[in-house]
Order: sequence, then structure tokens, then C-alpha cells
Amino acid sequence: MLLKREDCKITMSRFWSPIVQSLTPYVAGEQPVIDGLVKLNTNENPYGPSPHALAAISEIVNDTLRLYPEPTGLKLRKAIAASHDLDPGEVFVGNGSDEVLAHTFQALLKHELPLLYPDISYSFYPTYCGLYGITFREIPLDDKMQVRIEDYRQPCGAIILTNPNAPTGTALPLAAIETLVAEHPNQVVVIDEAYVDFGGESAIPLVRKYPNLLVIQTFSKSRGLAGLRVGFAVGQRPLIDALERVKDSFNSYPLDRLTQAGAVAAWEDRDWFQKHCDLIIASRERLTAALGELGFEVLTSSANFVFARHATRGGAELAAELRKRAVLVRHFRKARIEDFLRITIGTDAECDRLLDALKQILV
Ligand SMILES: Cc1ncc(COP(=O)(O)O)c(C=O)c1O
Repeated sequence: MLLKREDCKITMSRFWSPIVQSLTPYVAGEQPVIDGLVKLNTNENPYGPSPHALAAISEIVNDTLRLYPEPTGLKLRKAIAASHDLDPGEVFVGNGSDEVLAHTFQALLKHELPLLYPDISYSFYPTYCGLYGITFREIPLDDKMQVRIEDYRQPCGAIILTNPNAPTGTALPLAAIETLVAEHPNQVVVIDEAYVDFGGESAIPLVRKYPNLLVIQTFSKSRGLAGLRVGFAVGQRPLIDALERVKDSFNSYPLDRLTQAGAVAAWEDRDWFQKHCDLIIASRERLTAALGELGFEVLTSSANFVFARHATRGGAELAAELRKRAVLVRHFRKARIEDFLRITIGTDAECDRLLDALKQILV
């Protein structure tokens, strides 16, 4: 007998652990295969990784793959630590910063009092809270869509901020982050810096001073390696030890041999990294000005994307019309930001394709 899809769902649910029924999984941006697609929906880097990273990955495709990788990513931790004058024991690496975040939520952010984060922020945070049973309170951004650190002066178990924020792209200065960390000496404050290399100020220099600060970064954006899956956290030993304990209760080998080799080479190629961050920043400023001329309000971005709304046309409609023209951008069906589009910065040619499509739509 053939079962309909809905029947399968009902049959399967009998076998689920109770928590699975209550989960609201994160929905990642689509990865469709469309001819001539201009893909500006998931904040990938249009220039890709350093050629040295590709060479290092190719070199390690050999019979050493029969052996497990070094379990802690030591070479990569050493390279990251050396750049920041830290000890490798103050760096934790994982399979994308999503995995590092997941371990952080489980290891450090579950307390009796709620975890605080902005109402408009990375939409994976409520998913992790659901998975690990963490109580949370969302703190509204102000009416200029900015994080106000005064709003976090309240009893809480921990705080997580994305800086620069996503999907808004706006950044808090380092002094504001330091005030927040200093005002909560008994809570862990996590700063998710996925986009920091495009114009934000990293909080890593504060790590030595504040035992409650954990900074998380990724190789997916500024190092063009979203497909390799590498993220890392920087903090003092007790915080890193907590992450190691969770990791070693979950998967001892989160970074395979290819990934470790590629990530070290990518980290060490500072010239490639800086050159392509600069190109993306220049394209962002150019795109911001052009969108302004088309009637968009564009929030000041320190990221590799802009968050923009049109004066008269809705976000869902614009995203759908762009899609018909093979240009993908991200739209969130969420109160307060329904009219916005989050547009990844592509090459100038890709940005021009977006602008041409918008001109057609807006006539
Ligand atoms: C704010 C933020 N943090 C973390 C991530 C996860 O990045 P990855 O798992 O690719 O390192 C993303 C991805 O888009 C993000 O936007």
C-alpha cells in the first residue's frame, strides 16, 4: 500500500523523542540550482577562498585520510591564538560557527534567569533555546533598529549579541560592548562576530580582561569558506573548557583533515583576506548609494549585506519579483522587518544585475 506523505508524518511521529515534537528548526536560506542565478540570499562570499586554502586541501587528499584527524584542531587553534597574542587553550574550533554556537548555548547559556538577545537578530538563537530548554527574553531593538545596551540592565542568566547585528548589519562600537560585559560580571556575554571583518570592531582584545566574555567568529563569510564549515570561539580557559566538555560528549572530531588543512592556510593568507574584504566593503558602499537612488532606505551596514526597505513596495513582493528574474535575496516574514530585504554583497557585476532587475520591477 502506498502511503501519502502526511500519513508517513503521522506514522513517524510515534517514534520521536518527546522534545522533537516541540522543536522549531531553523530554516536556512535556499540553495537552488537555477541557470544564471545571482545568489544574494545567504551572505556567502562571491570571491571564494584563498588559493592557498584550495592547494592545502588538495595536498591532503591522500591515504592519511584513513586516520582520524587531530581532535582539537590544534594547528588551527595555534594559528588563531598567535594572531591575537593568546594561548591555544583560549581558542575552541568547531564545524561552522553554528556548531560552536550550539555548544555554547548548551554549555554556558542555560540558567534559571532568562538568556537575553535582541528581538531582531540571528534566527538560530530561539531554535537553540528550544533544543536545549533555555528560557530567553527578546529585547526589542530601538526604533532606529539599533541595539541599546541600557535595555540589557536587568536580571538575566546570560546575554548573546550579534555584532555587527544580523539581519540589520548595524554595529555597536567596542566601547559599548565593553560596557555591557563589565556591567554583567556574573553572566556570560557572547558576542557573535560572524560579520565583524567587514567593518566592525572585534571584542577579542577584551578577552584577557573579562572572564565572562566569549567571542565567536566564522570562516564562512570573510574567508569565503562557507562550504568547509569552520567556526571558532575565543575566551578564557574555563569558558573554553566548558565547550570542550560538550564537544567531547557529542563528536570528538568536528573538523576533518581537509578542513583543518584548508582553514590554517586560509587563516595565514592575510593578503587575500584583506583584499577581498576591502572589495566587498567598496561594493557595499556603491550598492547602498544605488539603492538609495531607487527609493530604498538602507540601514548603515558593517557587514557583507545590506538591510533595505523601499518607500512604497513591500519586501515579500520585491523578493518574489526578483526571484522571477533569477536574483535571490532574503526576506523574513517577521513583524517589524516584513518590508525589508537582506541583500548579500556580491561582485559589482552581481550587484548591477540586482539593480537592473529592481529598475524593471519599480517602473
Ligand atoms: C549571525 C550569524 N552567526 C553565525 C552564523 C553561522 O555561520 P557558520 O555556521 O557558517 O559559521 C551565521 C550564518 O549566516 C550568522 O548569520
